[in-house]
Amino acid sequence: MIVLGIETSCDETGVALYDSKAGLRSHALFSQVEIHAEYGGVVPEIASRDHVRKLLPLINQCLEEAGLTRTDIDAVAYTAGPGLIGALLVGTAIGRSIAMALDRPAIAVHHMEGHLLAPMLEAEPPTVPFVALLVSGGHTLLIEVRAVGEYKILGETLDDAAGEAFDKTAKLLGLGYPGGPALAKLAEEGDAERFSFPRPMTNRPGLDFSFSGLKTHTRNLWTNGEQDEITQADIAAGFQKAVVDTLLIKCRRAMQHTRAQQLVVAGGVGANLALRKTLQQAGHQYGWKVAYPRLEFCTDNGAMIAFAGCQRLMAGQHTGPVLKAFARWPLDQLPPLQNKRAPA
Ligand code: KG4
Ligand code: ZN
Repeated sequence: MIVLGIETSCDETGVALYDSKAGLRSHALFSQVEIHAEYGGVVPEIASRDHVRKLLPLINQCLEEAGLTRTDIDAVAYTAGPGLIGALLVGTAIGRSIAMALDRPAIAVHHMEGHLLAPMLEAEPPTVPFVALLVSGGHTLLIEVRAVGEYKILGETLDDAAGEAFDKTAKLLGLGYPGGPALAKLAEEGDAERFSFPRPMTNRPGLDFSFSGLKTHTRNLWTNGEQDEITQADIAAGFQKAVVDTLLIKCRRAMQHTRAQQLVVAGGVGANLALRKTLQQAGHQYGWKVAYPRLEFCTDNGAMIAFAGCQRLMAGQHTGPVLKAFARWPLDQLPPLQNKRAPA
Protein backbone atom coordinates (compact mmCIF):
# COMPACT_ATOMS: atom_id res chain seq x y z
CA MET A 1 0.00 0.00 0.00
CA ILE A 2 1.40 3.39 -1.02
CA VAL A 3 0.33 6.17 1.31
CA LEU A 4 0.66 9.88 0.57
CA GLY A 5 1.36 11.72 3.84
CA ILE A 6 0.63 15.42 4.30
CA GLU A 7 1.73 17.56 7.25
CA THR A 8 0.63 21.20 7.60
CA SER A 9 -0.05 21.66 11.33
CA CYS A 10 2.31 24.58 11.91
CA ASP A 11 5.09 26.23 9.90
CA GLU A 12 6.40 23.28 7.89
CA THR A 13 4.81 21.84 4.77
CA GLY A 14 5.76 18.16 4.77
CA VAL A 15 4.94 15.52 2.17
CA ALA A 16 6.00 11.88 1.85
CA LEU A 17 5.18 8.65 0.08
CA TYR A 18 5.38 5.58 2.30
CA ASP A 19 5.12 2.09 0.89
CA SER A 20 3.97 -0.53 3.42
CA LYS A 21 6.27 -3.09 1.75
CA ALA A 22 9.28 -1.07 0.58
CA GLY A 23 9.31 1.65 3.25
CA LEU A 24 9.78 5.34 2.62
CA ARG A 25 9.83 6.11 -1.11
CA SER A 26 10.32 9.87 -0.98
CA HIS A 27 9.79 12.88 1.22
CA ALA A 28 9.99 16.64 0.86
CA LEU A 29 9.77 19.52 3.26
CA PHE A 30 9.43 23.26 3.01
CA SER A 31 10.16 25.17 6.19
CA GLN A 32 8.53 28.60 6.56
CA VAL A 33 11.07 29.66 9.18
CA GLU A 34 12.48 32.53 7.13
CA ILE A 35 8.99 33.83 6.34
CA HIS A 36 8.02 34.06 10.02
CA ALA A 37 11.42 35.16 11.32
CA GLU A 38 10.78 38.86 10.76
CA TYR A 39 7.69 38.64 13.01
CA GLY A 40 9.54 36.79 15.80
CA GLY A 41 7.15 33.83 15.71
CA VAL A 42 4.64 31.93 13.58
CA VAL A 43 1.88 34.10 12.06
CA PRO A 44 -1.01 31.62 11.56
CA GLU A 45 -2.61 33.33 8.55
CA ILE A 46 0.71 33.56 6.71
CA ALA A 47 1.39 29.89 7.57
CA SER A 48 -1.93 28.77 6.05
CA ARG A 49 -1.42 30.78 2.87
CA ASP A 50 2.05 29.39 2.35
CA HIS A 51 0.85 25.79 2.83
CA VAL A 52 -1.65 26.48 0.01
CA ARG A 53 1.21 27.62 -2.22
CA LYS A 54 3.64 24.80 -1.43
CA LEU A 55 1.60 21.65 -0.93
CA LEU A 56 0.77 20.62 -4.51
CA PRO A 57 4.28 21.33 -5.88
CA LEU A 58 5.76 19.26 -3.02
CA ILE A 59 3.37 16.38 -3.75
CA ASN A 60 4.41 16.45 -7.42
CA GLN A 61 8.08 16.56 -6.38
CA CYS A 62 7.62 13.50 -4.13
CA LEU A 63 5.84 11.53 -6.86
CA GLU A 64 8.57 12.36 -9.34
CA GLU A 65 11.38 11.40 -6.93
CA ALA A 66 9.67 8.09 -6.19
CA GLY A 67 9.04 7.44 -9.91
CA LEU A 68 5.31 7.20 -9.25
CA THR A 69 2.20 8.85 -10.65
CA ARG A 70 -0.92 10.04 -8.85
CA THR A 71 -2.84 6.88 -9.61
CA ASP A 72 -0.19 4.83 -7.77
CA ILE A 73 -1.35 6.42 -4.52
CA ASP A 74 -3.47 3.86 -2.61
CA ALA A 75 -4.48 6.10 0.29
CA VAL A 76 -3.95 9.57 1.74
CA ALA A 77 -2.95 10.43 5.33
CA TYR A 78 -3.17 14.04 6.49
CA THR A 79 -2.55 15.71 9.83
CA ALA A 80 -5.95 16.77 11.22
CA GLY A 81 -4.72 18.06 14.60
CA PRO A 82 -3.59 19.26 17.01
CA GLY A 83 -2.12 22.48 15.63
CA LEU A 84 -3.03 25.80 14.02
CA ILE A 85 -6.54 25.36 12.75
CA GLY A 86 -6.16 27.29 9.48
CA ALA A 87 -2.91 25.49 8.66
CA LEU A 88 -4.46 22.10 9.47
CA LEU A 89 -7.44 22.85 7.25
CA VAL A 90 -5.16 23.30 4.22
CA GLY A 91 -3.69 19.78 4.54
CA THR A 92 -7.06 18.33 5.46
CA ALA A 93 -8.88 19.90 2.50
CA ILE A 94 -6.19 19.07 -0.05
CA GLY A 95 -5.54 15.57 1.33
CA ARG A 96 -9.22 14.70 1.51
CA SER A 97 -9.86 16.10 -1.95
CA ILE A 98 -7.03 14.11 -3.55
CA ALA A 99 -8.40 10.94 -1.94
CA MET A 100 -11.88 11.74 -3.24
CA ALA A 101 -10.65 12.52 -6.74
CA LEU A 102 -8.69 9.25 -6.87
CA ASP A 103 -11.47 7.32 -5.13
CA ARG A 104 -9.09 6.14 -2.43
CA PRO A 105 -9.45 5.99 1.36
CA ALA A 106 -8.10 8.79 3.55
CA ILE A 107 -7.15 8.93 7.21
CA ALA A 108 -6.98 11.89 9.60
CA VAL A 109 -3.72 11.54 11.54
CA HIS A 110 -2.94 12.85 15.00
CA HIS A 111 0.23 14.94 14.75
CA MET A 112 1.65 13.59 18.03
CA GLU A 113 1.02 9.98 16.99
CA GLY A 114 3.09 10.85 13.93
CA HIS A 115 5.95 12.08 16.14
CA LEU A 116 5.61 9.08 18.43
CA LEU A 117 5.88 6.53 15.62
CA ALA A 118 8.63 8.39 13.70
CA PRO A 119 11.46 6.24 15.20
CA MET A 120 9.80 3.24 13.52
CA LEU A 121 10.99 4.61 10.17
CA GLU A 122 14.57 3.79 11.20
CA ALA A 123 16.57 0.65 10.44
CA GLU A 124 16.22 -0.74 13.97
CA PRO A 125 12.69 0.27 14.93
CA PRO A 126 11.56 0.12 18.55
CA THR A 127 8.96 -2.52 19.35
CA VAL A 128 5.99 -2.11 21.67
CA PRO A 129 5.63 -1.82 24.62
CA PHE A 130 7.74 1.26 25.35
CA VAL A 131 7.68 4.62 27.08
CA ALA A 132 7.71 7.66 24.80
CA LEU A 133 9.00 11.10 25.66
CA LEU A 134 7.40 13.52 23.21
CA VAL A 135 9.01 16.93 23.36
CA SER A 136 7.90 19.46 20.76
CA GLY A 137 7.02 23.13 20.46
CA GLY A 138 3.46 22.50 21.61
CA HIS A 139 3.70 19.39 23.80
CA THR A 140 5.72 17.69 26.51
CA LEU A 141 4.32 14.24 27.14
CA LEU A 142 5.43 11.01 28.78
CA ILE A 143 3.36 8.19 27.35
CA GLU A 144 3.10 4.50 28.07
CA VAL A 145 2.71 2.86 24.67
CA ARG A 146 1.29 -0.62 25.15
CA ALA A 147 0.60 -1.07 21.44
CA VAL A 148 0.44 1.20 18.42
CA GLY A 149 -2.76 3.16 19.08
CA GLU A 150 -2.90 2.46 22.83
CA TYR A 151 -1.52 5.45 24.65
CA LYS A 152 -1.66 6.16 28.36
CA ILE A 153 -0.50 9.64 29.30
CA LEU A 154 1.77 9.36 32.32
CA GLY A 155 2.75 13.01 32.55
CA GLU A 156 2.52 16.30 30.71
CA THR A 157 3.51 19.91 31.11
CA LEU A 158 1.39 22.14 33.29
CA ASP A 159 2.50 25.28 31.43
CA ASP A 160 5.10 25.75 28.66
CA ALA A 161 6.12 22.84 26.45
CA ALA A 162 9.85 22.02 26.39
CA GLY A 163 10.30 23.47 22.88
CA GLU A 164 8.29 26.53 23.83
CA ALA A 165 10.59 27.05 26.83
CA PHE A 166 13.62 26.82 24.53
CA ASP A 167 12.04 29.30 22.10
CA LYS A 168 10.95 31.81 24.76
CA THR A 169 14.28 31.64 26.58
CA ALA A 170 16.13 32.14 23.30
CA LYS A 171 13.98 35.18 22.54
CA LEU A 172 14.79 36.64 25.99
CA LEU A 173 18.47 36.21 25.24
CA GLY A 174 18.03 37.98 21.92
CA LEU A 175 18.60 34.87 19.80
CA GLY A 176 15.58 35.47 17.56
CA TYR A 177 13.21 32.89 16.09
CA PRO A 178 13.19 29.93 15.98
CA GLY A 179 15.14 29.91 19.18
CA GLY A 180 15.52 26.23 20.15
CA PRO A 181 18.30 25.26 17.72
CA ALA A 182 20.08 28.63 18.18
CA LEU A 183 20.03 28.31 21.97
CA ALA A 184 21.29 24.71 21.74
CA LYS A 185 24.18 25.83 19.52
CA LEU A 186 25.15 28.64 21.87
CA ALA A 187 24.89 26.30 24.89
CA GLU A 188 27.74 24.19 23.43
CA GLU A 189 30.13 27.08 24.13
CA GLY A 190 28.81 27.93 27.60
CA ASP A 191 29.64 26.85 31.13
CA ALA A 192 26.51 25.10 32.42
CA GLU A 193 27.73 25.29 36.02
CA ARG A 194 28.26 29.07 36.28
CA PHE A 195 24.63 29.80 37.18
CA SER A 196 22.43 27.53 39.20
CA PHE A 197 19.09 26.66 37.63
CA PRO A 198 16.22 24.77 39.32
CA ARG A 199 15.11 21.30 38.14
CA PRO A 200 11.36 22.07 38.25
CA MET A 201 8.96 19.60 39.88
CA THR A 202 11.62 16.97 40.46
CA ASN A 203 11.49 17.19 44.26
CA ARG A 204 7.92 15.90 44.39
CA PRO A 205 6.45 12.65 43.11
CA GLY A 206 4.72 12.45 39.74
CA LEU A 207 5.55 12.72 36.08
CA ASP A 208 4.23 16.16 35.16
CA PHE A 209 6.49 18.99 34.03
CA SER A 210 6.59 22.75 34.43
CA PHE A 211 9.04 24.82 32.39
CA SER A 212 7.77 28.38 32.73
CA GLY A 213 9.80 28.98 35.92
CA LEU A 214 13.06 28.32 34.02
CA LYS A 215 12.18 31.10 31.61
CA THR A 216 11.54 33.52 34.51
CA HIS A 217 14.81 32.42 36.12
CA THR A 218 16.61 33.21 32.85
CA ARG A 219 14.94 36.60 32.61
CA ASN A 220 16.13 37.51 36.10
CA LEU A 221 19.69 36.38 35.42
CA TRP A 222 19.89 38.17 32.07
CA THR A 223 18.21 41.46 32.96
CA ASN A 224 19.95 41.82 36.34
CA GLY A 225 23.45 40.81 35.28
CA GLU A 226 26.19 41.39 32.74
CA GLN A 227 24.88 41.13 29.18
CA ASP A 228 28.05 40.00 27.45
CA GLU A 229 28.49 37.07 25.06
CA ILE A 230 30.08 34.80 27.66
CA THR A 231 27.20 35.34 30.08
CA GLN A 232 24.72 34.71 27.27
CA ALA A 233 26.37 31.38 26.43
CA ASP A 234 26.64 30.39 30.12
CA ILE A 235 22.95 31.10 30.70
CA ALA A 236 22.05 29.12 27.54
CA ALA A 237 24.16 26.18 28.78
CA GLY A 238 22.69 26.32 32.30
CA PHE A 239 19.15 26.49 30.93
CA GLN A 240 19.68 23.60 28.51
CA LYS A 241 21.23 21.43 31.23
CA ALA A 242 18.29 22.16 33.55
CA VAL A 243 15.79 21.08 30.87
CA VAL A 244 17.78 17.97 29.94
CA ASP A 245 18.32 16.92 33.59
CA THR A 246 14.63 17.44 34.35
CA LEU A 247 13.59 15.34 31.35
CA LEU A 248 16.06 12.62 32.38
CA ILE A 249 14.77 12.49 35.96
CA LYS A 250 11.17 12.15 34.76
CA CYS A 251 12.06 9.56 32.09
CA ARG A 252 13.83 7.48 34.72
CA ARG A 253 10.78 7.66 36.95
CA ALA A 254 8.48 6.68 34.08
CA MET A 255 10.71 3.71 33.17
CA GLN A 256 10.73 2.51 36.79
CA HIS A 257 6.99 3.03 37.13
CA THR A 258 6.10 1.06 33.97
CA ARG A 259 9.05 -1.39 34.13
CA ALA A 260 9.54 -0.69 30.43
CA GLN A 261 12.80 -1.67 28.74
CA GLN A 262 12.65 0.81 25.87
CA LEU A 263 12.45 4.57 25.72
CA VAL A 264 11.44 6.39 22.55
CA VAL A 265 12.26 10.09 22.24
CA ALA A 266 10.60 12.18 19.54
CA GLY A 267 9.43 15.68 18.64
CA GLY A 268 11.46 18.78 17.77
CA VAL A 269 13.42 18.91 21.04
CA GLY A 270 14.40 15.28 20.36
CA ALA A 271 16.84 16.83 17.88
CA ASN A 272 18.72 18.40 20.81
CA LEU A 273 22.13 16.72 20.88
CA ALA A 274 22.66 17.22 24.63
CA LEU A 275 19.33 15.50 25.32
CA ARG A 276 20.11 12.64 22.93
CA LYS A 277 23.54 12.12 24.51
CA THR A 278 22.24 12.24 28.09
CA LEU A 279 19.40 9.79 27.45
CA GLN A 280 21.71 7.50 25.50
CA GLN A 281 24.12 7.41 28.46
CA ALA A 282 21.22 6.75 30.83
CA GLY A 283 20.17 3.89 28.56
CA HIS A 284 23.62 2.29 28.94
CA GLN A 285 23.62 2.88 32.67
CA TYR A 286 20.13 1.57 33.43
CA GLY A 287 19.84 -1.06 30.70
CA TRP A 288 17.19 0.57 28.52
CA LYS A 289 17.15 0.70 24.77
CA VAL A 290 16.75 4.28 23.58
CA ALA A 291 15.31 5.02 20.13
CA TYR A 292 15.13 8.30 18.24
CA PRO A 293 14.09 9.30 14.77
CA ARG A 294 16.90 10.56 12.52
CA LEU A 295 17.41 14.28 13.19
CA GLU A 296 15.32 15.51 10.24
CA PHE A 297 12.34 13.41 11.39
CA CYS A 298 12.40 14.81 14.95
CA THR A 299 10.91 18.09 13.76
CA ASP A 300 7.70 18.19 11.72
CA ASN A 301 7.71 16.18 8.49
CA GLY A 302 5.42 14.30 6.13
CA ALA A 303 7.12 10.91 6.54
CA MET A 304 5.87 10.42 10.10
CA ILE A 305 2.31 11.25 9.00
CA ALA A 306 2.44 8.84 6.05
CA PHE A 307 3.80 6.12 8.36
CA ALA A 308 1.27 6.68 11.18
CA GLY A 309 -1.56 6.87 8.66
CA CYS A 310 -0.39 3.65 7.03
CA GLN A 311 -0.58 1.78 10.37
CA ARG A 312 -4.21 2.79 10.80
CA LEU A 313 -5.16 2.20 7.16
CA MET A 314 -3.61 -1.28 7.29
CA ALA A 315 -5.77 -1.94 10.35
CA GLY A 316 -8.84 -1.05 8.28
CA GLN A 317 -9.43 2.44 9.65
CA HIS A 318 -10.26 5.45 7.52
CA THR A 319 -11.96 8.82 7.78
CA GLY A 320 -15.07 9.60 5.74
CA PRO A 321 -15.49 12.46 3.27
CA VAL A 322 -15.66 15.17 5.94
CA LEU A 323 -13.39 18.15 6.35
CA LYS A 324 -12.66 18.26 10.08
CA ALA A 325 -9.54 19.54 11.78
CA PHE A 326 -8.89 19.88 15.49
CA ALA A 327 -6.80 22.58 17.18
CA ARG A 328 -6.89 20.37 20.29
CA TRP A 329 -7.12 16.61 20.19
CA PRO A 330 -6.14 14.46 23.20
CA LEU A 331 -3.80 11.64 22.12
CA ASP A 332 -5.35 9.13 24.53
CA GLN A 333 -8.72 9.46 22.78
CA LEU A 334 -7.50 7.80 19.59
CA PRO A 335 -9.16 4.50 18.74
CA PRO A 336 -6.96 1.44 19.27
CA LEU A 337 -5.82 -0.58 16.26
CA GLN A 338 -7.34 -3.99 15.80
CA ASN A 339 -4.37 -5.24 13.86
CA LYS A 340 -1.53 -4.32 16.21
CA ARG A 341 1.32 -5.58 14.11
CA ALA A 342 3.26 -3.03 12.14
CA PRO A 343 3.42 -3.86 8.42
CA ALA A 344 6.62 -5.49 7.19
O1 KG4 B 1 8.00 18.95 16.59
P1 KG4 B 1 8.25 20.33 16.12
O2 KG4 B 1 8.94 20.52 14.79
O3 KG4 B 1 6.93 21.15 16.04
C1 KG4 B 1 5.88 20.99 16.93
O4 KG4 B 1 5.11 20.02 16.77
O5 KG4 B 1 5.83 21.82 17.86
O6 KG4 B 1 9.08 21.04 17.28
C2 KG4 B 1 9.53 22.33 17.17
C3 KG4 B 1 10.21 22.71 18.48
C4 KG4 B 1 10.54 24.19 18.55
O7 KG4 B 1 10.14 24.69 19.80
C5 KG4 B 1 12.05 24.19 18.38
O8 KG4 B 1 12.68 25.29 18.99
C6 KG4 B 1 12.43 22.90 19.06
O9 KG4 B 1 11.43 21.99 18.65
N1 KG4 B 1 13.75 22.43 18.63
C7 KG4 B 1 14.82 22.33 19.46
C8 KG4 B 1 15.90 21.87 18.68
N2 KG4 B 1 15.47 21.72 17.39
C9 KG4 B 1 14.15 22.06 17.39
N3 KG4 B 1 14.94 22.57 20.77
C10 KG4 B 1 16.14 22.37 21.34
N4 KG4 B 1 17.23 21.94 20.66
C11 KG4 B 1 17.16 21.68 19.34
N5 KG4 B 1 18.24 21.26 18.68
ZN1 ZN C 1 5.44 18.60 15.70
